[in-house]
Amino acid sequence: MPIPERMNPSFAFAPPAPDSLEEARKRLIVALDVPNAAAAMQLVNELENTCQWFKVGLELFVAGGPAVLEPLVKRGHSVFLDLKFHDIPNTVAGAVRSAAALGVRMMTLHAAGGPAMLAAAREALNGVENPPELLAVTVLTSMDAAQVSAVGVNRAPAGQVELLARMGRDAGMRGFVCSPQEVAKLRELTGPEGVLVIPGIRPAGAGVGDQKRVATPGDALRKGASYLVVGRPITQAPNPAEAAEAILREMAEALNG
Ligand code: C5P
Repeated sequence: MPIPERMNPSFAFAPPAPDSLEEARKRLIVALDVPNAAAAMQLVNELENTCQWFKVGLELFVAGGPAVLEPLVKRGHSVFLDLKFHDIPNTVAGAVRSAAALGVRMMTLHAAGGPAMLAAAREALNGVENPPELLAVTVLTSMDAAQVSAVGVNRAPAGQVELLARMGRDAGMRGFVCSPQEVAKLRELTGPEGVLVIPGIRPAGAGVGDQKRVATPGDALRKGASYLVVGRPITQAPNPAEAAEAILREMAEALNG
């Protein structure tokens, strides 16, 4: 259970209103970047009274398959399947349908797959009741100018992000994954309808690890993030639930304005 404020040693003088804590909970996604289902379930057991959303990426999904998602969905959690689909339109449409049937609430695909692929992915969800959110990935945050140029793109990474985001938006996408550096620009492009999911989140004072473009939870929300993805600052904390609670409080304060 979340720790009641009065029992919490880090209780701040002006605690965020309980409804902003609930709102923060709806917007925090924990990345389950672990090698197998047992490690994932251990984290979920520790976090499930604190966190609503869990992200399953390539490592865990390839190890455990769709069976990894089942207990999460059954326990009422919201699952973000981060497999970054990129293939011919027909194949991606099929993958989107299969993922929707597993009960995931969000999934990713590469904007670089082009407008036809994005349109096929969207059409695959026509008629699906309560469809999951499709999120386009623009330029991977691991790609710097040299990497972008090596794949034949004659443009700075920021310009390529913008080009792909505009193309995605024009193909009817409203969801994007982007770094904290790009969130303000993408919010401008998508308007209030945009669903912007932001990794690279580090609470003040936390180690950045291999992330290059980071922001605190409060900063990312103030710049226009809809959801925050947090991995190691929670999953590698001595007490993951406490670490998640601290991030939720920081988010709630930002949501309070
Ligand atoms: O541990 P950390 O908080 O850095 O984890 C961030 C998560 O977000 C990881 O699962 C990582 O793969 C994912 N991610 C990212 N940058 C992107 C897209 C996804 O860090 N551009």
